[in-house]
Amino acid sequence: MPQKAAVEDDASSMRRQFLELILSRQSVSPKRLGPPGPTYDEVAMMVSAAVTAPDHGALRPWRFILIEHDSRNALADLFQQAKARLSPRATPEELERERQRALRAPTLLAVVARLQRHEPRVEERDQYASIGAAIQNILLVAHALGYGAIMLSGRKTRDPQLVSALGLSGQEELMGFICIGTPTTSISRKCRPNVSDHLTVWRPT
Ligand SMILES: Cc1cc2nc3c(=O)[nH]c(=O)nc-3n(C[C@H](O)[C@H](O)[C@H](O)COP(=O)(O)O)c2cc1C
Repeated sequence: MPQKAAVEDDASSMRRQFLELILSRQSVSPKRLGPPGPTYDEVAMMVSAAVTAPDHGALRPWRFILIEHDSRNALADLFQQAKARLSPRATPEELERERQRALRAPTLLAVVARLQRHEPRVEERDQYASIGAAIQNILLVAHALGYGAIMLSGRKTRDPQLVSALGLSGQEELMGFICIGTPTTSISRKCRPNVSDHLTVWRPT
């Protein structure tokens, strides 16, 4: 039997590691993501963390679509077509840049909001908050597994043809894409806001 003190040391070290993991997460630009991306099982692990997001009314207002390697050229075509619709005067370079957004990161995971808009018990903002928490859990698991990741949206996520080509229903919203891969350069730790700027203590007057 392990000694009680040793078990407590382990628990305390796990808590410190967990906190350090959260504090050290930061987004990595798709330009700095290379292969390998996560395996299917690792993506499934990320989504298993996503679905533990706090979820008022258990509405499950999220789903995720993995766009695998062999579908990326088709996605690049869709991105380019969406860009051409949204910016009819886009130059060939701008259209090519948009294509590259679908091709750069090794793994792309589309984030879909499936809000229940007429649910009287749960406001839409609670449902969006749940989606944000699900996204953060994916980013954290990606980071824990040693990958870099970033959530990106952009105007094209509202393009009806792109949204429909990805298989979303008329009630669903495309929140964007989580790009995941292996950082190709070392990433220096970001300076984060001061806690005191974001935490106050309320006292009754
Ligand atoms: C839902 C959502 C959509 C986002 N869309 C974009 C985007 O389109 N372009 C962008 O530069 N950053 C976007 N961001 C912000 C980045 O994902 C990232 O959080 C930001 O660059 C700050 O980096 P950090 O995560 O290291 O703090 C989005 C974030 C969220 C939560």
